[in-house]
Amino acid sequence: MVKLVVTDKDGRDVEVDARPGLSIMENIRQLPHSVEAVCGGLCSCATCHVLIDERSLGRLPPRRYEERVMLATSPSFDPQRSRLSCQIKVTPDLEGLRLIVVPNES
Ligand code: FES
Repeated sequence: MVKLVVTDKDGRDVEVDARPGLSIMENIRQLPHSVEAVCGGLCSCATCHVLIDERSLGRLPPRRYEERVMLATSPSFDPQRSRLSCQIKVTPDLEGLRLIVVPNES
């Protein structure tokens, strides 16, 4: 398991023991006040939007084109920190990664 630290929509920090090989979204969506992930990970909704803590930037692979397009539709898009959590696979080197669930955007 890989420990992630997730700040939920209520601003609470929650430690998650994430399963490697699954996406971050699949590991955090069951938390209360977490991502909605409406499309189930198909990169077509942006309801799994998270902000990566500044201390953890540079630890993730770059965004693919499809992810960049979806994120650009978000009112909360942050060019440095925004990611779609369904597009990031959990790997052991992400131990301790900190991320923030973006509040509902509508
Ligand atoms: S779950 Fe829909 S884009 Fe990630």
